Amino acid sequence: MRSLIDIKELSTEEINELIAVATDIIENPKKYSEACYGKILATLFFEPSTRTRLSFESAMCSLGGKVISVSSADSCSASKGESVADTAKVVSCYSDIIAMRHPKEGAPLVASMNASVPVINAGDGGHNHPTQTLADLLTIHRELGRLDNLTIGFCGDLKFGRTVHSLITAMSRYTGIKFVLISPEELKVPSYIKRDVIKKNNIEYVQTTDFEAVIPELDILYMTRVQKERFFNEEDYLRLKDRYILTPDKLEFAKPELKILHPLPRVNEIAVAIDDDPRACYFKQVYYGRIMRMSLILKLLEVNV
Ligand code: NCD
Repeated sequence: MRSLIDIKELSTEEINELIAVATDIIENPKKYSEACYGKILATLFFEPSTRTRLSFESAMCSLGGKVISVSSADSCSASKGESVADTAKVVSCYSDIIAMRHPKEGAPLVASMNASVPVINAGDGGHNHPTQTLADLLTIHRELGRLDNLTIGFCGDLKFGRTVHSLITAMSRYTGIKFVLISPEELKVPSYIKRDVIKKNNIEYVQTTDFEAVIPELDILYMTRVQKERFFNEEDYLRLKDRYILTPDKLEFAKPELKILHPLPRVNEIAVAIDDDPRACYFKQVYYGRIMRMSLILKLLEVNV
């Protein structure tokens, strides 16, 4: 039995397989519509979410399975003081697979060590978000036809943005990758990611605060929201939240084949006027997220179609 807590648990071959199955799902959705008949997915979300929870639920429904759900910590026994370990043991009796989001880093790992069914990390604090990364990888693969030889700009909250941490980790396995890390000083990529992922894999990277200067060299621009909920004081959040806003004028010298990604929700960091630009991919990314979660559920439940 296999869980998915960190994107580095998947080999490159497995990522390729997940993309291949996702591609087949896009082309032949009917083939998969009963693949998980009789199976139950439990979504345990102890932090707010629209997309990720609904994406998992929609994925399971599209596979013919059923869904049970906890959508806030207040509405379940966590509020009575139940441990993550006990919750995982209990929910294993009700379901065949669990997707868990939790504000504490490491909580889904603890759940996976105690559950008797696969556990998927749907976001743990400011740490990891492997299934958003699977959505990002499918988006990049479909839009650019490759996952190597790319200059990827990450812009915004690179400190608390768990989607950034997981995507950097995933991309570091491919050749010809360069990272351009654009953030205010206070929101730079954590040093453990720089040391254990970027430097360890000898990936070329630059850190900068100058957004406009680097846009022309990018193949992918990954915009992110400043993670308000992880700030210790509101003043810092207010000071930093609108530091980088992508507006049409900033794209003037961008490559025509640039792809703009964002895990969503967007607050202010991408002007709505960009939504109609052919380079904007963030709503397609949402669709690809659902498809990749279908592919992942099939893999973890060992269902072959
Ligand atoms: C992201 C998250 O939860 O980390 N959202 C998502 O899952 N698509 C990004 C964010 O909340 O800013």
